[in-house]
Amino acid sequence: MATILAIESSCDETAAAVVVDGRRALSNVIASQQALHAATGGIVPEVAARQHLRAIVPVVRQALAEAECSWDDLDYIAATAGPGLPGALVVGLNAARGIAFARGLPFIPVDHIEGHVCANWLLPDEPPLPALALVVSGGHTELLLVAEDGRMRRLGATRDDAAGEAFDKVARLLGLPYPGGPPLARLAATAAPSRLRLPRAWLRGSDDFSFSGLKTAVQQLLAAPGAPPAADVALAFEESVADVLATKAARAASREGVAALLLAGGVAANARLRARVRALADVPVVIPPPILCTDNAAMIGAAAYRHLAAAVSPAAPLDITSTRARSLASLAVTGTG
Ligand code: KG4
Ligand code: ZN
Repeated sequence: MATILAIESSCDETAAAVVVDGRRALSNVIASQQALHAATGGIVPEVAARQHLRAIVPVVRQALAEAECSWDDLDYIAATAGPGLPGALVVGLNAARGIAFARGLPFIPVDHIEGHVCANWLLPDEPPLPALALVVSGGHTELLLVAEDGRMRRLGATRDDAAGEAFDKVARLLGLPYPGGPPLARLAATAAPSRLRLPRAWLRGSDDFSFSGLKTAVQQLLAAPGAPPAADVALAFEESVADVLATKAARAASREGVAALLLAGGVAANARLRARVRALADVPVVIPPPILCTDNAAMIGAAAYRHLAAAVSPAAPLDITSTRARSLASLAVTGTG
């Protein structure tokens, strides 16, 4: 049995969790900074870093308490190593490295995107592999092929704005608070059926995405005389994003002949996207509950365990700095980690 204390601090959530064998979260504590950043309509990196510093110790203590774990029960310490806001990442990373050093435990650095995908391993049924994973968050929009050995290969990504970033920017144009995804979805749900249709960037022949043109289209629509009601715009925007993401992910899943399509990341909490993916995919669709879609540390613990299970030397040198951990895993294989 492997008991992992995992820490996540890449953006605006300070989170810690105790995860057993990569499948069972004994605790999953999340201290959100959303109220703090709502005042500025977005994240100020320096403010986020300072808040992580305030929250990290109480959050780790709470994660151990809720899991009814003592320091002696832990086998590994894991943390998000990147990508993310550098000043935010170093807080969780250094806390984890400090604990690993003090307790003499191996430290496992985890890629944040890989973490989002691995939230799917915290569900009652283990996802079948190979699978296609659509990771849609505030900072990333990626289509990944997850091989049978768990290794991930990127098939496509956004060329400009991430899907969540587009939600947040359009929400701001509509006068909604940060983070914009949930209030925009609530506003869209109040819209009467309308003929308003916003553009879709298909980028045919590629698994990449683009959302900046859509954002500009909304901006121009709202600035023009006789702009439609905000709810109609919210609905048309949500439909455009959900349609492109679901259609491209479903097509890639058929083409790659995978056994399942996994959704991950904060935007996977969006009900319209979830429904559209389920309607279009011809393979089973696996979607974690919203609390495991947005940033959390249980997903980091699940990903760390998969490094162990894949027999990739998990322990990283304690002097690593924040970076994309995916490359660290391959360093470890060649023995330089
Ligand atoms: O994964 P996440 O918590 O953090 C990042 O790694 O970025 O994702 C946050 C993003 C934000 O852009 C937020 O607006 C979006 O996920 N989001 C949603 C919903 N819930 C969160 N977007 C659309 N619909 C939602 N229900
Ligand atoms: Zn995230």
